[in-house]
Amino acid sequence: MGRHCDFDFDHLDLRRLRRRRGEKWRLFGEGPDAPLAAWVAEMDFPLAPPVRAVLERALELDDVGYPLPPARTGLPEATARRMAERFGWQIVPEQVEVITDVVQGLYVALETLSRPGEGAVVQTPIYPPFLAAVHDTGRRLDENPLVLGEGGYVPDIAGLRAVGGPDTRLLLLCHPHNPSGRVFRREELAAIAEVVLERDLVVVSDEIHADLVYPGHRHIPFATLSPEIAARTLTLTSATKAFNIPGLRCAVAIFGSEALRDRFLRVPRSLRGGLGLLGIEATLAAWSAGQPWLDAVLRYLDANRRHIAEFVAAEMPGVGYTPPEAAILAWLDFRRLDLRPTPRGFFLEQAGVALGEGLDFGEPGRGFARITFATSRAILDEILGRMARALRRRA
Ligand SMILES: Cc1ncc(COP(=O)(O)O)c(C=O)c1O
Repeated sequence: MGRHCDFDFDHLDLRRLRRRRGEKWRLFGEGPDAPLAAWVAEMDFPLAPPVRAVLERALELDDVGYPLPPARTGLPEATARRMAERFGWQIVPEQVEVITDVVQGLYVALETLSRPGEGAVVQTPIYPPFLAAVHDTGRRLDENPLVLGEGGYVPDIAGLRAVGGPDTRLLLLCHPHNPSGRVFRREELAAIAEVVLERDLVVVSDEIHADLVYPGHRHIPFATLSPEIAARTLTLTSATKAFNIPGLRCAVAIFGSEALRDRFLRVPRSLRGGLGLLGIEATLAAWSAGQPWLDAVLRYLDANRRHIAEFVAAEMPGVGYTPPEAAILAWLDFRRLDLRPTPRGFFLEQAGVALGEGLDFGEPGRGFARITFATSRAILDEILGRMARALRRRA
């Protein structure tokens, strides 16, 4: 089932994955008995061929010197093409600044678009660096939890209107949403936008998962809602999630106004940190020639996210799961089972599986755990099987 065109995602060799030097397969130990890694949002699949080709070409030429100045690499133009092709979003290259990574963009935005002590709204549960960024920059966390209903998480608009105070400056949006994989609907975004205008907020929209949206859903860039919204929105994105190259460190910030751009650029490039040639080249290759690979990956992931639903319904009584509409993450609700010490701790100790800890995503994540399912069906089944057996042993 896993062969889509020329891509084989079914035959991943676990021993080979365990030889990788990145944190996914090493943080929780090494060797055949180390836990199965399903925590960080990284894929186990082979790279997209065009990405692999530029990396191989660089090695062949020993080409790992300094890159051209970012504005001359072609990446701002490639970003504009990509946003137009994928999301019908018309921007010009001058709106784009190449940055090192999306989380860096969050930090720089907090530093430059608000003052210490001022409020930043965060909709929890949330990708943990959002919380760390607000804390580390000395801003106030204005927490506006999402509401978990039948169809997944939805924004709490009344809460958004009320949270914080007159010195609330920013809304940090995670769209599509990590950890739940929810793709916010146009009406929801429009309701958020209304409050943003009422409260004179600036929006930092992390759209890194936008290229990983499943059929039946559509990503709407927040900045496309209206010209007034665009003017107060800074969008952060990259090729690193969808094409699984986060170690290459390359992302883009897209500014809806010159004023936002000027303020952001007050943190000079040298303080933000330089860029690597390989990250830029891999991003260009991914966006210009990687789509057939990404389409095949998405078909495979689509089947995996549905498979988890069947498995959880059949083998994990009492566990809640709404299949994600985007991204490679399954957010499982173990609250009814009261797993000790926490869901992650329980499965690490009892199942030999390393998951993402729900509480790291803020208090609303208590009792949840996150599985990264961008792996072969066989490895996913091993992960799920181990978890189900650990739950049965406990019962
Ligand atoms: C929502 C979100 N933003 C940002 C990142 C990390 O991006 P970067 O590596 O570019 O900092 C991730 C990684 O999983 C993510 O899920």
